[in-house]
Amino acid sequence: MAAMQLTDSYGRTIKSLRISITNRCNLKCIYCHREGETRYTNNEMSVETIANIVKASKRFGVNKVKFSGGEPLMRNDFENILRALPELKDISATTNGTFLAQRANDLAGSGLNRINISLPSLQAEKYRKITGGDVRIVLKGIDAAVDSGLVPVKLNMVLMKGLNDTGIPEMMDFIQKYDGKVILQLIELMNFQKTAQYQVNINEVEKFLEKRATDIEERSMHRRRKYHIDGIEVELVRPIDNSHFCANCNRLRVTSDGKLKPCLLRNDNLVDVNNKEPEKIAELMEFAMEKREPFYKEG
Ligand code: 5AD
Repeated sequence: MAAMQLTDSYGRTIKSLRISITNRCNLKCIYCHREGETRYTNNEMSVETIANIVKASKRFGVNKVKFSGGEPLMRNDFENILRALPELKDISATTNGTFLAQRANDLAGSGLNRINISLPSLQAEKYRKITGGDVRIVLKGIDAAVDSGLVPVKLNMVLMKGLNDTGIPEMMDFIQKYDGKVILQLIELMNFQKTAQYQVNINEVEKFLEKRATDIEERSMHRRRKYHIDGIEVELVRPIDNSHFCANCNRLRVTSDGKLKPCLLRNDNLVDVNNKEPEKIAELMEFAMEKREPFYKEG
């Protein structure tokens, strides 16, 4: 018999956790959604609480975890967090990549399976304008991640009109040399900061990909489309006004200060699990399911 699952009243079963472990970041990306956190408490969860949350969710058959931030590698104890986790199928992180050249190897050795790297542009000038950082360090980080086996490495490119939207072909050429170990994710900009003027027409991007693709798959996760083009994989993530995106949402978020967050776009339904034991956290996870509903509903 299957283990009891976490399912909300819209029939959505939780398959993965997305845990923010810090609000701190060394870059200042102009588009950053800060994982939907609007108030920063700077009260980061302990290694033990993080492990307890993962243990609690595992009782419900959740065996995938993604760590995010802020920048998760701002935590020097991230390797300790990884080592404290129970056995899982998939442990990943979303990072800006600036610390990977030094740490990719340790992270892989501590149990991290794969990594997503935010990379809005390959052009030094544009990258700096968007993030405030140095793209060359990130490129070294990508190589380190590939060499350490944190694959497939997914490059997250949030598309912004006039800033990086003409850089898609260049990005596709760039990943070619990694022989399928690097995948490109093109992401529709969500307007969390004052970025409405950068909104890209995502239908045009979709048409461009359709024209070049030799094969198109649809992932159950958010019904994302995956395009196979000249030996590379490109995914298109369309979160906005997308009822399919919400209908297929199977992740539960956790804020850096230990609150279950049923939706990226809401902050009025958080459930505090900080400093609690797995037993209690499991109970609160079931409670959080009652507060879960799609932000964009179907029909
Ligand atoms: N719109 C879409 N995606 C975003 N991300 C961050 N901010 C936004 C936004 N405004 C995604 C990027 C980044 C990850 C942490 O979250 O893909 O890599």
